[in-house]
Amino acid sequence: MNEYDTEKMLGVLKSCDYHPTDNFLEADLILLNTCSIREKVEQKVYSTLGRLKRLKEKNPSLIIGVGGCMAQQEAEKLLQKVPYINMVFGTQSITRLSELVKAVEEKRNKVVDTSLNGFHSLSLIPRLPQRVKAYVSIMQGCNNYCAYCVVPYVRGKERSRCKEEILQEISFLAESGVKEVTLLGQNVNSYGKDLNERDDFSSLLSLINEVNGIERIRFITSHPKDLSPQLIHCFKELKKLCEHIHLPVQSGSSLVLKRMDRHYTQEEYLDKINKLRGVSPEIGITSDVIVGFPGETEEEFEETLSLLEKVEFDDLFSFKYSDRPQVKASTLPDKVDEKIKAERLWHLQNFQKKYTLMKNKRREGKEEEVLVEGVSKRDPKKLTGRTRSNKVVNFEGKIELQGSLVLVSIKRAFLHSLEGELIDPLH
Ligand code: 5AD
Ligand code: SF4
Repeated sequence: MNEYDTEKMLGVLKSCDYHPTDNFLEADLILLNTCSIREKVEQKVYSTLGRLKRLKEKNPSLIIGVGGCMAQQEAEKLLQKVPYINMVFGTQSITRLSELVKAVEEKRNKVVDTSLNGFHSLSLIPRLPQRVKAYVSIMQGCNNYCAYCVVPYVRGKERSRCKEEILQEISFLAESGVKEVTLLGQNVNSYGKDLNERDDFSSLLSLINEVNGIERIRFITSHPKDLSPQLIHCFKELKKLCEHIHLPVQSGSSLVLKRMDRHYTQEEYLDKINKLRGVSPEIGITSDVIVGFPGETEEEFEETLSLLEKVEFDDLFSFKYSDRPQVKASTLPDKVDEKIKAERLWHLQNFQKKYTLMKNKRREGKEEEVLVEGVSKRDPKKLTGRTRSNKVVNFEGKIELQGSLVLVSIKRAFLHSLEGELIDPLH
């Protein structure tokens, strides 16, 4: 979501004659697009701002702005702690960014805009030249209020974009050469609940499946409790929908899930996984886990390990629980000691590694469809792209293949990528 917002920011800034530079020492304007999902990411923002202080001292006309979720939630604190910030703008202020920058340029004093009413005109913002893949926001906000999560407070209530506008944006992207779209929303399965009954997420996917030029569709994120039979069915029916789902589980313990206000049990989660694999046996499944949620006992943590064993995720993103302002969990008793959280995280990540590697190894000897994204950053002699199940593949080939779908034979699997040999360009 933040990458998408950043693209939109670059689009607005271009229209008021600011252009990106590779050298931030030369910049006239520096905007930090922030996240506030965990405490650690907030600390990074403050340390980055600390580093910018010297630049501002050398060049007092430099404009420094902070946007995104952290700005949405703690504008006052930011301005107090970092007095040399010129502007603070929230998650819905991107449409007004050029006016905000102009206001700073003219008055050179502080400008703050954190109102939550700019989402619906977001699609009108031009973007910088597209690549092979693009994000498309289909809804924003969340009504779920999971006990640990700050998102409903910083992104507001669920709001869906109308399907005509989404399809128009995707057709436009296809015309500019984009082959793969990733639909974004905090809980995509809630798409359309605030519109009319027929505009649900599955029917939106079917419409996007018909857009000429688009070869692949992905989406993030789906809440397990709302993963509908219709959406599961889409993995069978829709040719362009890639066989990958990110389905955050957060914990393997039904009791912890209850305290997290997630509204499903370990058994219900496993049932959804079985159904997904029933319609799409090769589907790549990734997830998020939080360790050390308040009151998490050793046994409850072990239930998460046992879930990882049962599911065999393709990959996992895992985090130590951290208190966030306003959220219910921050008021819960029995906070888990930092040292224990760190140990559990270490243990969990090591435990998962064998499954990630095992899942990658299973692809050895297989032929995979890969969308060529460009030259590999690690090895400039190779091309890089992803399989439909979202695994990175590196292989030798000519750069002219960028943007095309090719068939690659997988030779070796590593923890984070696959190595293959080009068989045949498909298109
Ligand atoms: N502490 C730790 N992790 C969190 N996440 C969300 N809120 C918190 C928190 N307070 C994690 C969840 C979510 C991912 C994006 O970030 O796992 O799925
Ligand atoms: Fe946060 Fe996701 Fe829960 Fe919404 S569904 S409150 S975004 S964790």
